[in-house]
Amino acid sequence: MLGTRILHRTIGPALPVAVAGAGVSITDSTGKTYIDASGGAAVSCLGHGHPDILRAMQEQMATLEYAHTSFFTTEAAEALADDLVAHAPDGIGHVYFVSGGSEAVEAALKLARQYFVERGETGRTRFVARHQSYHGNTLGALSVSGNPQRRDVFAPLLFDAHHIDPCYAYRYRRTDETEEDYGRRAADALEQKLIELGPETVIAFIAETVVGATAGAVTAAPGYFKAVRAICDRYGILLILDEVMSGMGRTGTLHACEQEGIAPDLMTVAKGLGAGYQPIGAVLIAEHVYEAFAKGSRTFRHGHTYICHPIPCAAALAVQQVIRRDRLLDNVRRQGGRLQAGLEERFGNHAHVGEVRGRGLFRAIELVADRASKQPFAAELNLAGRIKHTAMQHGLCVYPGNGTADGYSGDHVLIAPPFTVDGETIDAIVERLGDAVDMAIAAAKVA
Ligand SMILES: Cc1ncc(COP(=O)(O)O)c(C=O)c1O
Repeated sequence: MLGTRILHRTIGPALPVAVAGAGVSITDSTGKTYIDASGGAAVSCLGHGHPDILRAMQEQMATLEYAHTSFFTTEAAEALADDLVAHAPDGIGHVYFVSGGSEAVEAALKLARQYFVERGETGRTRFVARHQSYHGNTLGALSVSGNPQRRDVFAPLLFDAHHIDPCYAYRYRRTDETEEDYGRRAADALEQKLIELGPETVIAFIAETVVGATAGAVTAAPGYFKAVRAICDRYGILLILDEVMSGMGRTGTLHACEQEGIAPDLMTVAKGLGAGYQPIGAVLIAEHVYEAFAKGSRTFRHGHTYICHPIPCAAALAVQQVIRRDRLLDNVRRQGGRLQAGLEERFGNHAHVGEVRGRGLFRAIELVADRASKQPFAAELNLAGRIKHTAMQHGLCVYPGNGTADGYSGDHVLIAPPFTVDGETIDAIVERLGDAVDMAIAAAKVA
């Protein structure tokens, strides 16, 4: 890219320069406006330029911009922790604040390891995770991620995590199985893996409650997470739910696990927590995990300069207050239903859309070359990337992903508009996406 000193994600053609945002729209320096239908990567859950969040940040900046956590705590961080615990799943009693999703996952992995060290179970060294998952790009988070395209270059540097198949009915359920049977079989894979490894050597199982970037809004089969919870309890390992993308209201409840009827021992959240106004992530910690530290060394052997930063904490608290004041989770459920219905109407009989799926305002379409065999398009076509590019040309931002089917091939597109979105905008998103999909597929077929 000419004229830039930034090492961008890809060294290539110039990106549009975003200069302004308002509600669901982003405007670039040429004056072109885009519907931000994915909030970047499911981040901007209140849209852009929300006055209440800006005010909360300005007030915090005017009083205290920063205080190091080895010297002080702050009212902003304490208030956010109180608020998150008050609305957390059963058993969660404390919170650890960081600056994003990968940091949250790193902290959760280390909390889990140290929890067992505090209890004298030092022989526990292993994590079990799932294929087609993404937990972050730092080395620990990438080690548990089941995303080969992000891992391959760094594979020799990663620790050995143990991956089982995801719970992904569209690709893994047998035709002779009910959804429930399949959910049980998918959970049984965890038990088999624990037995194979020796459960006394395992620290935790980590999973995205709804799979995001790697497979595209994949919800688990009914009963899967209840069975997983029971297996973790039976073998004495921790359950870490990664809700960095699917949490904080995105699926229509504050936490995605509420809809699974289970509570984790550790849970990571980020993206929607700060809604893009500030970088922030957190680990929600069950009281029994906290107690092991409190009765043990009393020191979590971790920390960064910017943990508990008061400006992100003030922004995140304001986000929570706005979501409750404006009853936005009702809107997530209502508009999520409209989005699913619109996508089904537009793509239900589409020759190259295998599935329309998701929950709340976290939806995806999975693209296939052939609907009957579910065969993906050739990976070299980068169909999801083409759809993103075409959609942007037509003023729509959606979040593409590939490797959906097996880590290397398969394409999906994620749609994750803000919780404030209205019905007309939902319809416009579906219409523009429909056009972009058709144009991108036509271009890919002649490529
Ligand atoms: C489920 C999940 N975990 C972790 C991460 C990493 O978060 P971040 O990019 O903020 O480091 C992501 C990012 O997409 C994610 O979707």
